[in-house]
Amino acid sequence: MNKPAVLATRAVFPDVIARLEQHFDVQSNQDDRSWTESELIAAAQGKAALFTTPSERVSAALIGAAPSLKAVCNMAVGYNNIDVDAATRAGIIVTNTPDVLTETTADFAWALMLATARRVTESEHWLRAGKWQKWRYDTLLGVDVHGTTLGIIGMGRIGQAIARRAMGFNMRVIYHNRSRLAPELEAESHRAEYRDKAALLREADHVVLTLPYSPQSHHSIGAAELALMKPTATLVNIARGGIVDDAALVDALQARRIAAAGLDVFENEPALHPGFLALSNVVLTPHIGSATEATRRAMANLAADNLIAALTGGTPPNILNPQVLARG
Ligand code: GLV
Repeated sequence: MNKPAVLATRAVFPDVIARLEQHFDVQSNQDDRSWTESELIAAAQGKAALFTTPSERVSAALIGAAPSLKAVCNMAVGYNNIDVDAATRAGIIVTNTPDVLTETTADFAWALMLATARRVTESEHWLRAGKWQKWRYDTLLGVDVHGTTLGIIGMGRIGQAIARRAMGFNMRVIYHNRSRLAPELEAESHRAEYRDKAALLREADHVVLTLPYSPQSHHSIGAAELALMKPTATLVNIARGGIVDDAALVDALQARRIAAAGLDVFENEPALHPGFLALSNVVLTPHIGSATEATRRAMANLAADNLIAALTGGTPPNILNPQVLARG
C-alpha cells in the first residue's frame, strides 16, 4: 500500500524528517526556499498533511485548492498563519505545539526586558565602535528592573511563566487578559493583579506582550496606548508582529515618549520598519523566542507526533479543532 504523502513546507531537523519518513512519503523543503502561495498550493497537491512553521500562510484559498489535505500541523504555539475556520469547514485537523516552549520563551522575554532596560546591545555596539575611552558616571544609564512593576498583556501559559520569574526581581506583577485568571493562578503568577489595559499601561514600568495575534489584537498597541505609558517605561513584544503598530512605535521611540523597546516580532517580518534600524533605544531580535536546541527539537517532534496521530487514526495531542474528529 502506498504511504500517505506529506509536505514539510520549510527546513526542519533531519531526524524529524526521518521519523516522518517511517510512516509517510515525505516531500521536504530542506533547501528552505520561501515559497509563494501558488508554489505552496502546487506543492500541497496530493498531500495528506502539511508540516508548517509560522512563516507559511495556510489560507482558505490554499485549503480550497488542496482537497487531499487531512491535517495541518504547525511547529509553533501561535497559529494565526492558518485559517482554522476554513480548515474546520473542510474537515482538516489543525494542531500547534504548546507547553514545550513555555519556559524557554519566558526566559527570552526576560532576556529582552533586561537587555532593553539596561541597554545591553546598545552598549556593545558603542564598545565595538571604539567609543569606550573612560569610565563615566553617566555612560549608558538605563532604568531598573528589580523592584519595579511588570505589566503583562496576555496572561496565558507564557505570560504566567514570565510572571513567576518576577519573584526573584522583587517586582509587582499586574496583568491584562481577555478573561481574569482564577485566584489560584493569580497567586501562582507572583500574586499578579488584574488591570484593564489602560490602567496597566499607565502603571507598569515594563510592559511585556504575550497575547495571540488575531483581528481583535491587531494594533492593540498603537499611538494612543503608547501615549499612556510612562516616559521611563519599556515595551517588549515576544508575541506576534501586528499586535503593535510598528510605525507608531517608531514615532514613540524617536520622540522618547517611552524609554525603549525590545522586539522579537515585527509587522512584516522578516522585513523591518526602517525606522527601527536607525534607533538606538530598541533591541531587535529575529523571532527567536523559542530558539534553544532543546526547545526547537521538542517543538518539531511534537508537530511530528501530532501529524503521525492525525494520519494514523489517533487523537493528536494538540488538536485545535476537535470538532473535526467528533464529526468522524
Ligand atoms: C512562535 O512564534 C510560536 O508561536 O511558537
